[in-house]
Amino acid sequence: MKVIFAAYDPQPQRWTNLIAEQLPDAEIIVWEPGMAPTGADYALVWQPAEALFEAERQLKAVFNLGAGIDGLLRLRNLPPALPVVRLEDAGMSVQMAEYVAYHVIGASRDMDLYRSQQADSQWKIHRPIKRSEWPVGVLGLGHIGKRVAQTLAGLEYPVHGWARTAHDIEGVRCHAGQAELDTFLQSTRVLVNTLPLTDETRDLIDYRLLGRLRPGAMLINVGRGEHLVDEDLIRALAEGHVTRAVLDVFRQEPLPGEHPFWRTPGLTITPHISARTLRDATVEQICGKIRALEAGQQVSGVVDLGRGY
Ligand SMILES: NC(=O)c1ccc[n+]([C@@H]2O[C@H](COP(=O)([O-])OP(=O)(O)OC[C@H]3O[C@@H](n4cnc5c(N)ncnc54)[C@H](OP(=O)(O)O)[C@@H]3O)[C@@H](O)[C@H]2O)c1
Repeated sequence: MKVIFAAYDPQPQRWTNLIAEQLPDAEIIVWEPGMAPTGADYALVWQPAEALFEAERQLKAVFNLGAGIDGLLRLRNLPPALPVVRLEDAGMSVQMAEYVAYHVIGASRDMDLYRSQQADSQWKIHRPIKRSEWPVGVLGLGHIGKRVAQTLAGLEYPVHGWARTAHDIEGVRCHAGQAELDTFLQSTRVLVNTLPLTDETRDLIDYRLLGRLRPGAMLINVGRGEHLVDEDLIRALAEGHVTRAVLDVFRQEPLPGEHPFWRTPGLTITPHISARTLRDATVEQICGKIRALEAGQQVSGVVDLGRGY
């Protein structure tokens, strides 16, 4: 069996050594531009070049080294019948839950205010948190959204969730489809986006949607930059309906120095670090699935290319 690794990493052996440990009988190849076809059976990829699929015509499956497959679906020559398997959690959902909880807690417990008081040596106690004033709404209830919603529900924030289909999650009021989007938004003050990027979800978070959130709204975007209409967020912040936003993902990454986000009051920017791909957990999950496929078994996490996630 041949496994090809096609992801930009200056030290690909950090991956290939782990793959070799998990699949000792496999030949592991690092893909390089201009390389002759290798006849690989499986590819492990992150934002690969189209040339990979031009050359490798015998692939049985392609494994994406992340949860979001938008980078892969942009390719014009991805063979339509080739199974694409996305990463399922693999240590990402707990990181995302931490990231979101940190920002929700920070906002609802006035941590900025206490930090600024400290700078003035000021001992001043403000009124305690009222969780009812901080209802959280999570867009997407998949591997990541569900964990985020459960974590915040565990901290006793009122939590709503929205997905394409109906869900039943303890402590979370779940809404489904376009028909229930408005009810979801009207119940939400802190909007957390964990959706995949698809034709249906691109540009979803616009001025109109932000305007339906409760006053003093907060946005936490950990999905994809293209879910958000940048200028609409800037306008909603300037008008005061949205009071703060935490953005981890952007239309262009790295976020260009001249982008107005850098200078917009109320914005917190992080460089796409809310949930990192963990090499050990990732390789273990993917290699387990390769072994299952080789044994003729079905695997979970196969992307529905028509649906886009
Ligand atoms: N910032 C980062 O570091 C980072 C890291 C990892 C992932 N991500 C992002 O997080 C995304 C989600 O990952 P995941 O593993 O949770 O994906 P997932 O398990 O596939 O879950 C996707 C969720 O989105 C819902 N959804 C999809 N299209 C929808 C639509 N049109 N309307 C309403 N709901 C819709 C799905 O609804 P159903 O349940 O009804 O199918 C599902 O609940 C990734 O695609 C990626 O963009 C970001």
